Amino acid sequence: MSDPRDLTDRAHAPKPVPKPGILDIHAYVPGKAKSDGVETPIKLSANENILGVSPKARAAFAEAADLLHMYPDSRTTILRDAIASTFRLEPERLIFGCGSDEVFQLLNQAFLEPGDNIVQGEYGFAAYAIGAHACQAQVKLAREPGYRIDVDEILKVVDERTRLVFLANPGNPTGTWIAFSEIERLHAALPPSVVLVLDAAYGEFVLDDRFSDGLDFARGSDNVVVTHTFSKLYGLAALRLGWGYAPLAIAEAVDRIRLPFNTSIPGQLAGVAALGDQDFQDRSIAHVEQWRPWLTQQLGGLGLEIVGPSATNFLLIGFSSQPGKTAADADAFLSARGLLTRRVLNYGLPNHLRITIGLEEHNRAVVAALTDFVGA
Ligand SMILES: Cc1ncc(COP(=O)(O)O)c(C=O)c1O
Repeated sequence: MSDPRDLTDRAHAPKPVPKPGILDIHAYVPGKAKSDGVETPIKLSANENILGVSPKARAAFAEAADLLHMYPDSRTTILRDAIASTFRLEPERLIFGCGSDEVFQLLNQAFLEPGDNIVQGEYGFAAYAIGAHACQAQVKLAREPGYRIDVDEILKVVDERTRLVFLANPGNPTGTWIAFSEIERLHAALPPSVVLVLDAAYGEFVLDDRFSDGLDFARGSDNVVVTHTFSKLYGLAALRLGWGYAPLAIAEAVDRIRLPFNTSIPGQLAGVAALGDQDFQDRSIAHVEQWRPWLTQQLGGLGLEIVGPSATNFLLIGFSSQPGKTAADADAFLSARGLLTRRVLNYGLPNHLRITIGLEEHNRAVVAALTDFVGA
C-alpha cells in the first residue's frame, strides 16, 4: 500500500475529485449553430433577435474598440444609471451579470446551502437548476399543466428548505405566460424568507395588460428580484449582459460575491445605446407580432401541436411519436434544409421542437419544409 502523503508516488496518489453532485449536473445545451453540409444555415434555435442588433448599439460597440486595453467600470455605472432612469428604479438596487444567467447563479450562490432547494416549473429554464446543483442544493419541480406555470402547483412543492422560487414569465421553452395577479397570489402565499425570482427575459414581447414583469411590484418588496436580459429584444446576446432589480439587502449581498468586472466596456456602451433605441425595439416587437400568428396558424394547419398561445419570439411545437414523424426526425429534416431548431429533451419534452420566429423568408421556409415533412 502506498503512502497517500508520498506525493512522488503519482500512480497511486489520489486524483482531484469535484464535490458531490457536480458530475451529475447536465451541462447546458445551447441552440445549434451548424448543420453538416449546409454553408449558411438559418439559426432559429436560440431565440435571438432575428432583426439583428440596433444600429445605435452597433455604433457604440465599434467605439469601444478604442478602449479595449482598459478594465471596465466595475459598477457598470453608465448602464446602471440608464436603466434606473428608463425604468424609474433606484440605481443601488440593480445587479448586473454576464447575461441574466449569471444573475441567477449569483442569487443561488448567495442563498443556497447544501440541502436547501429551489423551486421552478417542470419546464423551467435550465440555468436555474445548474446553479442550484452547483451549490449542492436540490431542485424541486412544480407541474405545469397545459405547459403553463401553475401557482398552486408551485405552492405544493415549496417546503421549509426552499430558499428561492424561479419563475420565467413568459416561460422558455413553453412561451406561455400567466397574469400578474397570479404572481401576486403566489407571493402572498410564500414564506417571506423565500426569494421570488421573476425572470422577464421575454417580458418585453408580452403586450397584454394583465402581464407585468414585476418591476413595480418588486419596488415595495423585500423578497422579489426581477431579471431582464439584453440578449433577446435588444439583440445583444453576444455581449452577455443581464440585470436584476432586487431589494437593497439582496443587491448588496450579491455585490460581495460577483466577479469584479463582470460586464465589459463594449457591453456597457452598447447596452446604453440599445436601451435608448426605441425604434429598434418597436420594430423587433412588431415583427414578432406580425409573424407569430401567421406561423402558429400555418403550422397548426399541418396538424402539429402548437403550445401556447406563445407570447414570445418563439413557438414550441409538438410532434407525433410515430416513427419517422417525431421531433428528432423533424429536427433532422429541417437541419438538412439549413433550418436550425432547438430540441428540448432536457426540458422533459422529447417530442417537441422550439423554433424562433424568423424573417419572412425563414418562416416561409419552415412552413414549406414542415409541409413536406408531414406529408412525406
Ligand atoms: C427564460 C430565460 N431566462 C434567461 C435567459 C438567459 O439570458 P441571458 O443569459 O442571455 O441574459 C434565457 C436565454 O435563453 C431564457 O430563455
